[in-house]
Amino acid sequence: MRSLIDIMDLTVEEIDGLVSTAKDIMENPAKYAEACKGKKLATLFFEPSTRTRLSFEAAMYELGGHVLGFSSADSSSASKGESVADTVRMVSCYADIIAMRHPKEGAPRVAMMKSGVPIINAGDGGHNHPTQTLADLLTIHQEKGRFENLTIGMCGDLKFGRTVHSLLCAMSRYPGVKFVLISPAELKVPDYLIQDVLIPAGVEYVETTDLEAVMPELDVLYMTRVQQERFFNEADYLRLRDSYILNPPKLVEAKKDLIILHPLPRVNEIAVAVDDDPRACYFKQALYAKYIRMALILKLLEIEV
Ligand code: NCD
Repeated sequence: MRSLIDIMDLTVEEIDGLVSTAKDIMENPAKYAEACKGKKLATLFFEPSTRTRLSFEAAMYELGGHVLGFSSADSSSASKGESVADTVRMVSCYADIIAMRHPKEGAPRVAMMKSGVPIINAGDGGHNHPTQTLADLLTIHQEKGRFENLTIGMCGDLKFGRTVHSLLCAMSRYPGVKFVLISPAELKVPDYLIQDVLIPAGVEYVETTDLEAVMPELDVLYMTRVQQERFFNEADYLRLRDSYILNPPKLVEAKKDLIILHPLPRVNEIAVAVDDDPRACYFKQALYAKYIRMALILKLLEIEV
């Protein structure tokens, strides 16, 4: 039985397989409409989410399956003091697969050890978010046609942004990928990712605070929200939240075939005026997220279509 806790649990070949299944689902949705008939997905969201939870739910419905679950810790027995381990043990009596989001780093791994069914990490604290990364990868592949030889700018909260961490790991496995890490000094990529991922993989990277200076070299620009909920004090958040605001003038020097991604929700780091730019891909990215989650559910349930 397989779970997905960390994006590196999947080999590059498996990622290619998920991307091609997702593309096949997009082209032939009817073929998959009953693939999960009689199966149940539990969404255990101990931390708020709109996109991720709804896209998991939509994914399961479009596979002909059912969904049960809760959308906040307050509406679960966690509020009575139940441990994650007990919750998951109980839920795995009712569901065939579990997607779980939790504010504590590592909680989905603990859950996996106690679960009788596959666990999907739908975001654990400021750590990882592998299914958002699958959505990001499908978007990159759809829009650029490749994973290799891309210069990827990641901008904003690179410290607490879990989607950044998972995408960095995933993309570091492709040849010719270069990272441009754009953040305030206080929100740089955690050192463990530099030391344990980028350096051992021999990946080229630069760290900078200046988005406009690096704009012309980027093939992909991954914007992120400053993660207010992970700050220890409000004053720091207020000081840092407007560090980067992407607007049309800042894109003047960008490549014509740049793609702009954002895991959403957006606060104000991308001006609404950018939405009409053909390079803005963040709403398409939300759509692709559903298809790749469908592919993942099929893989973990070992259903062949
Ligand atoms: C992200 C997350 O939850 O980490 N959202 C998402 O899953 N699409 C990004 C964020 O909250 O900023």
